[in-house]
Amino acid sequence: MIQAHGGTLIQKYDSNYNYADITKEIELDLFSLSDLELIGIGAFSPLTGFLGKEDYESVVSNMRLANGTVWSIPITLPVTEEKAAELAIGERAKLVHNKEVYGVIKIEDVYTPDKKLEAEKVYRASDDAHPGVKKMFERPNVYVGGEIILTKRVKHDRFNSYYLDPSETRAKFEELGWKRIVGFQTRNPVHRAHEYIQKSALEIVDGLFLNPLVGETKSDDIPADVRMESYEVLLEKYYPKDRVFLAVFPAAMRYAGPREAVFHAIVRQNYGCTHFIVGRDHAGVGDYYGTYDAQLIFSEFEEGDLAINPLFFEHSFFCKACGNMASTKTCPHSKEDHVVLSGTKVRQMLSEGIVPPPEFSRKEVVEVLIRGMQKVHA
Ligand code: ADX
Repeated sequence: MIQAHGGTLIQKYDSNYNYADITKEIELDLFSLSDLELIGIGAFSPLTGFLGKEDYESVVSNMRLANGTVWSIPITLPVTEEKAAELAIGERAKLVHNKEVYGVIKIEDVYTPDKKLEAEKVYRASDDAHPGVKKMFERPNVYVGGEIILTKRVKHDRFNSYYLDPSETRAKFEELGWKRIVGFQTRNPVHRAHEYIQKSALEIVDGLFLNPLVGETKSDDIPADVRMESYEVLLEKYYPKDRVFLAVFPAAMRYAGPREAVFHAIVRQNYGCTHFIVGRDHAGVGDYYGTYDAQLIFSEFEEGDLAINPLFFEHSFFCKACGNMASTKTCPHSKEDHVVLSGTKVRQMLSEGIVPPPEFSRKEVVEVLIRGMQKVHA
């Protein structure tokens, strides 16, 4: 089994941890709550807490932690200036959401980040129209760094069985006898192009780990519960049961394109994947990133920096002239023969009850999506 990034799968969950004598509290938004949990269960290995100043600055500028380990997205805990003034280095604070304690942080650092630099370096954008940059600027302006303990798990009513920790997915892969496992990140329904690249990858590995992101996304992305239902029907109908494993990735979406592709790959390594799919404009939004920037970024690393193998796929589509799914790498025909729809266009069609062509999306998937989107817009 592939090692976790950095060598050790971090485990920081302790439901018996005694925080009775801790008086200070930091309120978590949903974004930080999900980061806390993901650090706690080892999905963000080797991180053991929220980044301190030295690691933060190194990640922003060099895509590495201060010790040189590759890490591309700063995992930070923002607090207001008033809250920061209450906190002292060396003490512990409870991490609270909706009056419930979810964890404890040992405060090692309190610092004011250069958010403009973070926007430029991490998001390659500076304007508020970028949803990740907007979110970053909206959140409070001081960051708290320090090791955490996760003391309580977040409850999920629906689709609870798909929330698995890295230790559990690793055990599952072992049980299935899979040695080579390809991870697939998505924040969308699985359309034919996704299916094509997943199955192309599956031809050369033992199993596919379908790992949709279900944390915070921008408001016009298709809601996670609608997507989950669509993944279930798709797998049931079109995928071999013993070659695919579905579990969710409860992280917030950053829309940081190339930097987020690296982060997504590292996290999937922690879940036990040996390979990771990076297609066109991975984790991109609008036209902030070039179609293949999220692939090119991997060439900035040296041998040994990353254990997981990224698998790169060209823009894929159904080609009417070929009569099958293809990509810019394999199809000689012109654009007129290609069935390509933008995400925005598809969402608009679905919410109006218009069925996208079967060359774009499986009919069973479309049925679930139309029902789901009409509920959302009702
Ligand atoms: S993402 O934000 O999670 O990357 P999305 O769910 O659309 O968005 O993409 C999931 C994965 O499929 C990404 O690796 C992306 O690059 C890839 N992908 C999406 N659409 C295509 C396509 N038409 N051709 C090739 N790769 C694609």
